Amino acid sequence: MKDEISREERVAGLKGLGCSRKRVEDARFTQGKGNYVDDIKLPGMLHGDFVRSPYAHARIKSINIDAAMALPGVTAVLTAKDLEPLGLHWMPTLAGDKQMVLADGKVLFQGQEVAFVVASDRYVAADAVELVEVDYEELEVIVDPFKSLQSDVVLREDLVADDGSIPNGAHGPRKHPNHIFTWEAGEEEATNQVIDNAAVVAEAEMYYHRTHPCPLETCGSVASMDKVNGKLTLWGTFQAPHVVRTVASLLSGIEEHNIRVVSPDIGGGFGNKVGVYPGYICSIVASIVTGVPVKWVEDRMENLMSTAFARDYWMKGKISATKEGKITGLHCHVTADHGAFDACADPTKFPAGFMNICTGSYDIPVAYLGVDGVYTNKAPGGVSYRCSFRVTEAVYFIERMIEVLAIELNMDPAELRSINFIKKEQFPYTAALGWEYDSGDYQTAWDKALKAVDYKGLRAEQAERVEAFKRGETRKVMGIGLSFFTEIVGAGPVKNCDILGMGMFDSCEIRIHPTGSAVARLGTISQGQGHATTFAQILATEIGLSAESITIEEGDTDTAPYGLGTYGSRSTPVAGAAAAMAGRKIRAKAQMIAAYLLEVHDNDVEFDVDRFVVKGVPERFKTMKEIAYAAYNQAIPGLEPGLEAVSYYDPPNMTYPFGAYVCVMDIDVDTGVPEIRRFYALDDCGTRINPMVIEGQIHGGLTEALAVALGQEIAYDDMGNVKTATLMDFFLPTAWEVPNYETDFTVTPSPHHPIGAKGVGESPHVGGVPCFSNAVQDAFRPFGNRHTNMPHDHWRIWQTANNLGMHD
Ligand code: CDP
Repeated sequence: MKDEISREERVAGLKGLGCSRKRVEDARFTQGKGNYVDDIKLPGMLHGDFVRSPYAHARIKSINIDAAMALPGVTAVLTAKDLEPLGLHWMPTLAGDKQMVLADGKVLFQGQEVAFVVASDRYVAADAVELVEVDYEELEVIVDPFKSLQSDVVLREDLVADDGSIPNGAHGPRKHPNHIFTWEAGEEEATNQVIDNAAVVAEAEMYYHRTHPCPLETCGSVASMDKVNGKLTLWGTFQAPHVVRTVASLLSGIEEHNIRVVSPDIGGGFGNKVGVYPGYICSIVASIVTGVPVKWVEDRMENLMSTAFARDYWMKGKISATKEGKITGLHCHVTADHGAFDACADPTKFPAGFMNICTGSYDIPVAYLGVDGVYTNKAPGGVSYRCSFRVTEAVYFIERMIEVLAIELNMDPAELRSINFIKKEQFPYTAALGWEYDSGDYQTAWDKALKAVDYKGLRAEQAERVEAFKRGETRKVMGIGLSFFTEIVGAGPVKNCDILGMGMFDSCEIRIHPTGSAVARLGTISQGQGHATTFAQILATEIGLSAESITIEEGDTDTAPYGLGTYGSRSTPVAGAAAAMAGRKIRAKAQMIAAYLLEVHDNDVEFDVDRFVVKGVPERFKTMKEIAYAAYNQAIPGLEPGLEAVSYYDPPNMTYPFGAYVCVMDIDVDTGVPEIRRFYALDDCGTRINPMVIEGQIHGGLTEALAVALGQEIAYDDMGNVKTATLMDFFLPTAWEVPNYETDFTVTPSPHHPIGAKGVGESPHVGGVPCFSNAVQDAFRPFGNRHTNMPHDHWRIWQTANNLGMHD
């Protein structure tokens, strides 16, 4: 048979790897046809709302629900006393701690859930919340983790034995009632020795402030207990629906097959929707109690005040080098404020996440990291916000340490980075703190970035600007922000990564229909990343059917194979790999079918784009569509009918994307207002599945990085009041603040990923925050700045200028 279409046309027709295919999900999103949790409306559905604590630390003397219950439309008011007989007044956290579902005797942060009101509609529920009378006795509030470790005030009385001794926590011994864990990596003595004897040592203390991802859609759930068939259905904003199902089963005693968890469309997650929140539990209990569906959806203030925050790391570093700038050692200590309960969503063995990637992109012979987790009167959570487990903190730390060392050495920070990069030929590279980096070519990326922005020209311009400022000819200073980051994404492998004991693999199940279209289901769940588009592209290239003919489904535990969900940019490295592997199983069976149909031996056919051809006889072939049809309609000796495959993929290692970013900024020292003149972002995420989706991910991540570096913050006063709980106070950038981003790339495939892809979703955030911050700090370097803490809002920038005497 002669083929009329060229090979190039066949490749293009697949819309496979490398194609900037338009996002298939946008057709419904842009037409208001998305189906979010709050869109779910079930017959007879009731609405839940929380009574929340106005105090950050108080004992609860009494709760009176009479007036609330008397309000027409109110069905129930749940308190800890109602949950206690069910064993649900506390719940386990993902970090091995436990957390109150409803306040049990005391409250530990402002906004903590005290009672759950269930009513006929949301407004009645809100009115009833006001009628619940809670008698609080205020206790001393601790919002400073350093003071917490010195204080006599015991925050978690449940974690102190009757004799006053302090039992071990989930991660070993605790040295104070308010201490959670000490976690260490590397060699402290050897590191200290190197630093003590080094020619040059730079030190810095930095605070990576508390912030919050603030997804447009807040958290929520709808629980529906069908008492007739004993099945619980739970729709919710879950980034890991299967894990929620397992946890719900373990907590409720309902067998797992009788629980269906569905993540419908999710309006942004960024890690905020990984944790298990009291609202989920209360909606389930309320549905079981009332026998009708119960919806709970939080409002913006509740989301900002009580759900998973990010960062809150106090980092102290020492870095040593030779006079020529070769780094010899790195010491880092972190005091980590985890709030009232340790609810960090880290893999179990990593209480400080992957903070031990803090040696960054540099070949540092010896290093040490120590992290102390501490309880305070703040909301629990941590880790969330486009960060695979504290990598943002780690990269911020090392990229600031490099800048401070450059000041100490009186050296250009770009050159200092070049001197110390891990070299291409050193990969796979084992870092001093234990990680094995899979692949990288840092110098090539760095050179490309510096050339693209004319780095030398920028430095010359900056030097002229400094002189002009000193002569009084301008009030604007110029900063050149640099960052070179290495990410670590794609948790697993199962051998060292688990969440609540569940190994971090992921999965894909493919079913090819007789007419040559397909459905593939995965254990992940998109929250805007475009999986329905990109995973179909992986499969298109693997199985030779057009991406347009492949439906991707995620998020329904009744249909999707078990997976650990989407966060930490793990979808492409893990589920994407599972998709490729399942695709290969389809191809292996298709090869046998093709050989049978072409009447040759299996080994005499080879795959070519969308077909199997007889080797050396290209005109003899069977297309994948023909093969799919035959799989269902032809009796093939030795082969079962059908064309399906499943892969549970346990990655051998994580993937290590990297990137080189440059930001050029002008700052008015009198107003503290920064103007971003240019932002160049080079990313290397290995094989690129969809360049347009990647660019979208980078724009989004950079915008969130800009937010965090330049003003976004969850700030507390000394009483533990959240000062930034509305979008009037919490900086969410709009098109007004966001610059034009220039994106670029290199491609260094991952050697262990089936298609060489690494994750990308978090990279721009991880690399972007230090880049924006370095730009601000670099502007003030010629005037004596070493380090100032983020967020660099106008007021703080003005203060920096003032402290440096620039207003004199
Ligand atoms: O886990 P999450 O989806 O948040 O992050 P990711 O794996 O980095 O993927 C984000 C989006 O970028 C997905 O649609 C990916 O398929 C896409 N991507 C890509 O096109 N090429 C890559 N090398 C990595 C991700």
